[in-house]
Amino acid sequence: MANEKPVILEVKNLKVHFPIRGGFWNRVVDNVKAVDGVSLKIHRGDTYGLIGESGSGKSTTGKVIVGLQESTSGKMFYQGLDVTDKKARKKINYNREIQMIFQDPELSLNPEKRIYDIIAEPLRNFEKLSKEKEKMRVINLLDIVGLGPDSLYKYPHQFSGGQRQRIGVARAVATNPKLIVADEPVSALDLSVQAQVLNFMKKIQKEFNISYLFISHDLGVVQHMCNHIAIMNRGRIVEVGTKDDIYNHPLHIYTKRLLASIPEADVNNREAHRQNRIEVEKFFEDNKKDYYDENGAPLPLIQVSETHLAAVPESAVKGDD
Ligand SMILES: Nc1ncnc2c1ncn2[C@@H]1O[C@H](COP(=O)(O)OP(=O)(O)OP(=O)(O)O)[C@@H](O)[C@H]1O
Ligand SMILES: [Mg+2]
Repeated sequence: MANEKPVILEVKNLKVHFPIRGGFWNRVVDNVKAVDGVSLKIHRGDTYGLIGESGSGKSTTGKVIVGLQESTSGKMFYQGLDVTDKKARKKINYNREIQMIFQDPELSLNPEKRIYDIIAEPLRNFEKLSKEKEKMRVINLLDIVGLGPDSLYKYPHQFSGGQRQRIGVARAVATNPKLIVADEPVSALDLSVQAQVLNFMKKIQKEFNISYLFISHDLGVVQHMCNHIAIMNRGRIVEVGTKDDIYNHPLHIYTKRLLASIPEADVNNREAHRQNRIEVEKFFEDNKKDYYDENGAPLPLIQVSETHLAAVPESAVKGDD
């Protein structure tokens, strides 16, 4: 089934190349193709997962979307409007509507500021509220993420990791954004705390009709958050589809490898899981020449079904889906 919800953000053929300098003259000798032709569409109220191993270009993609990183080329449309350049963004208050949650709550909250100011800061950039109204709003935001008004005048170090990430979420939703880029929002947290944070991210999504770009290297975490998933590898998307497409009908060898690496919870299945992992790894090594070009770049995406695209050779599609 095609997604009927309106598209909130569309990224077209995004590239971010970082120059590598070297030699006596410190000239540009090469480029790191951190993002090398990424296109994606996020629908209103959906959670779009962007998955891939370390260095695949996920954070760079997220940073371009929120405006923390310049792109080399490519286009971006927000609710159908071209927001590729900064002037256009200003006109529609783009920076207010798109916010970010960072991986490490320890580093993303200023240790010298009280929680009150940390949460009120993005609000102050966009709205002139009276002191009283501002305080009410901050108390309300704390309440939404399950923290009491006693938190207002405390500092970040007085909270646990999970609580700090709640504060990060309260700060991100302060401006009533429509889209939040969540870059590994729970990777730094204990498993038990991860579930709590993910659950209230879901709750907030429902309450405010927020869309998420959910960045993670962990297909297990993404499973219960996302309805749409893109697999990123070497700066490109190698497979994209619904949760069912990706988990039940994966086509790319890299996706299969990521799926095989999800830890097995059931002790009785651990040995079978380990064997499967070895087989998938062997299959990857034996077949990678068919899935990457002579420069090691992934193949272009081909449409497999209405919702499913994969960067695979034609031969991999036959008989599936
Ligand atoms: N400012 C920069 N200058 C030069 N190279 C960069 C810069 N930022 C990122 N890179 C490189 O771009 C590539 C992609 O980095 P990015 O941070 O987007 O990966 P990632 O998928 O988020 O990885 P991780 O899972 O480790 O967070 C990496 O090779 C990285 O070293
Ligand atoms: Mg990253």
